[in-house]
Amino acid sequence: MSDHTTTGTDWWRNAVVYQIYPRSFADGNGDGTGDIAGMRARLPYLAELGIDAIWVNPWYRSPLNDGGYDVADYRNIDERFGSIDDAQAFVDEAGGHGIRVIVDLVPNHTSSEHAWFQAALAAGPGSPERERYHFLPGRGDDGELPPSDWTSVFGGRAWERCPDGEWYLHLFDSTQPDLNWEHPEVRAEFESILRFWLDRGVAGFRVDVAHALAKHPDYEDVGDRDQRDGPRWTEGHPFWDRDEIHPIIRSWRRVLDEYDDRMMVAEAWVRADRRPLYLRPDEYHQAFDFEFLSADWDAEQFGGIIEQSTTAARDVGSNPTWVLSNHDVVRHATRYGLPGGTDSAAWLLDGPHHLLDAEQGHRRARAAALLTLALPGSAYVYQGEELGLPEAWDLSTDVLDDPVWTDSGHRRKGRDGCRVPIPWEATGPSLGFGDAEGWLPQPVGYAALAAAVQHDDDGSTLNLYRSALRIRREHFTADFDITMIDLGADVLAFERGNGARCVVNMGAVPIAIPEGVVLLASAPLDDGELPADAAVWLAAH
Ligand code: GLC
Repeated sequence: MSDHTTTGTDWWRNAVVYQIYPRSFADGNGDGTGDIAGMRARLPYLAELGIDAIWVNPWYRSPLNDGGYDVADYRNIDERFGSIDDAQAFVDEAGGHGIRVIVDLVPNHTSSEHAWFQAALAAGPGSPERERYHFLPGRGDDGELPPSDWTSVFGGRAWERCPDGEWYLHLFDSTQPDLNWEHPEVRAEFESILRFWLDRGVAGFRVDVAHALAKHPDYEDVGDRDQRDGPRWTEGHPFWDRDEIHPIIRSWRRVLDEYDDRMMVAEAWVRADRRPLYLRPDEYHQAFDFEFLSADWDAEQFGGIIEQSTTAARDVGSNPTWVLSNHDVVRHATRYGLPGGTDSAAWLLDGPHHLLDAEQGHRRARAAALLTLALPGSAYVYQGEELGLPEAWDLSTDVLDDPVWTDSGHRRKGRDGCRVPIPWEATGPSLGFGDAEGWLPQPVGYAALAAAVQHDDDGSTLNLYRSALRIRREHFTADFDITMIDLGADVLAFERGNGARCVVNMGAVPIAIPEGVVLLASAPLDDGELPADAAVWLAAH
């Protein structure tokens, strides 16, 4: 049992949550795919790291067309990952280490292999089975044109035609049909799914594409508005961030509130000023801060985002939720090695790859960890970031598995580069991930970053995270106060309620370290100076 059990119904407010992408974390049965057996075996590592909770990416039965975000059975585990009993054992064993487990809820769409969708296809046009999804006749004389101009997030149109002539909606891959959230059975089913997992002791849910769900009743064309999600469009978009979403969230919240200490965190790529709507007291507990994740290495940008997010969350009684990397974006150790303003997802395919300064990315990633873990609120750590893993940006296109690669017509390489199996050992067919080669090849540089290599190295990134999580508990979680300190345009600095400070030098030259006792630094400190691309934590006395 670790000594850092976080108790109380508000445990999530400043929790450090570790994200496990099961396929790539640890392979217990040697088939090249990560699984629950591997996850169970690595629980002591996570307890030693000092996290409060784990978010598990989808582990449900699935054809894995979109890495499991295509769920065929929400109450069962895919056999490649294990069984429902294995999942229960994982939740229980994590609990024994004082670690809570959050699971992924994927409510916007099912897999096309889900029983409901199979029944809908078989039942044909006009059937009640089709009403649980969005089936429509097409436009044009023979219905040969899709019902609207909507496009899929992954590329191409968002409608697929069935052999019987009707079209169905899929905002993601064509094997991910969108559910119709106007249908009472859809609502009832998801409330039942929530209870299923809550009754098994999970601490809550990370909710996938929380800003989708509701669709315009007449499937109005997007026209010249932006199809993509994010901060670009205005209210009233036909499928993103619609107001009809909120009653659905409230119904889930009522279910969670029947239990005493559970939480929901929203993946909502919405405009910053719309995010608080999701965080009202009877809606989500938290929502990821994607502005923070998207910021350039720029003190002013980060400072503005931190002030805006902390105030906005506080105003609705929530707390900010910081994240630097996840299974959908280029790992930050690589992002921060690219010139400011680079579209890192496009850079994977188009380069130029010589723009990457990997050393700089590594330094900045370490500094960013101290920045994130010193902020008020909760922080999500994506598996491998505690090892300082860079993106596997040079994966050859013949190993790519992400549907983004095919759906975009090979215009986007996709997200496989951040989903490469974790290196646990310096040697072996998949560097200790399992006894066989992993489902994606690991870059050469991963061997030197293996967990076993870093474990006993005081200067390693793994030990930086371990120290940071320990010190954070003592100095940075007492309250949620934050005051920004002006140390010049290139320096991001703030003080927490109890006087502990974090100073990040985002400029090009060393700066003098303000007075205080050094608690931790992301780089060696010379002569009282904080080098460029480094962060330091200071206590008042
Ligand atoms: C979310 C997930 C992503 C998935 C998509 C569709 O954005 O994080 O991995 O592809 O939803 O479910």
